[in-house]
Amino acid sequence: MDLHLKGKTVLLVGASRGIGLEAARMFAAEGANVMLAARSEEPLRQAVERVKKESGNPNVHHVVGDIRERDSHVRIVTATVAQFGTIDVLVNNAGAALSNPNPEMTDEIWLEALHYKLLGYIRTTLAVFPIMRKNGGGAIINVIGGTGREPYPWTSSTGVVNAGLLNFTKTVATQYAASGIRVNAINPRQIDTKRLADFRAVEPEGYAETIAEIPLHRLGRAEEVASVIIFLASDRASFITGTAIDVDGGATRSVSF
Ligand SMILES: NC(=O)c1ccc[n+]([C@@H]2O[C@H](COP(=O)([O-])OP(=O)(O)OC[C@H]3O[C@@H](n4cnc5c(N)ncnc54)[C@H](OP(=O)(O)O)[C@@H]3O)[C@@H](O)[C@H]2O)c1
Repeated sequence: MDLHLKGKTVLLVGASRGIGLEAARMFAAEGANVMLAARSEEPLRQAVERVKKESGNPNVHHVVGDIRERDSHVRIVTATVAQFGTIDVLVNNAGAALSNPNPEMTDEIWLEALHYKLLGYIRTTLAVFPIMRKNGGGAIINVIGGTGREPYPWTSSTGVVNAGLLNFTKTVATQYAASGIRVNAINPRQIDTKRLADFRAVEPEGYAETIAEIPLHRLGRAEEVASVIIFLASDRASFITGTAIDVDGGATRSVSF
């Protein structure tokens, strides 16, 4: 099946490991120009080398940036345009669950959560929008998380940020549709990446309970989320915008958007 991604430029923010790296491997295999962004340079370099080698695609580069910093998104977007001339697909994927026992929720923790993912995704999206509008179209995929629509105890800051990003996804999808830009979200949950490995190390009992609660009775693989990213980025999803897809083995019990 031709996904028509050959020659398209994809900016993947949060791509040195986990879900972002799997998506980079798939986009490169489709012949896209791929820019990988993250905070640490060495893992990024290694990721780029691996993706180039496996795909045989030389058009894979990296840029260092931290989306918590106010101007980092400008540097990431500018570097991508300087390298490839434009951006056709943006994947906002850089994030982290912050530990936040509610009684200790200070303003500082809330502001950190807001700066990390909410403002990071929003700023990058707003910076890419004029480029896509000039192109006459594009696709934006926000990798969010299940707590936005199914609140979970002790994760209120992550939940609030994720709910805000679902709202942002729907809002800009409606605003940008006239410019040919589709905006969608993916809610991964219980995907076996470094985040889950960290959780297993700290809370082995909670980790075992987590798996028992997943209807498919296993963790998801990063490539199972990446497949949905590729689909939403492609013309095969040409009539899909403003929606959110759960990739969670059935773990989310909610039926509403
Ligand atoms: N895995 C799950 O089950 C799950 C569940 C819910 C939501 N999610 C969401 O899915 C996305 C990907 O998750 P993952 O499990 O693949 O995570 P991961 O394995 O921890 O990878 C995160 C990637 O983002 C980069 N990154 C982190 N903070 C960044 C920042 N401030 N600026 C730029 N890059 C940054 C990391 O590299 P550096 O550390 O070098 O920057 C890394 O490349 C995240 O948004 C996460 O919140 C995942």
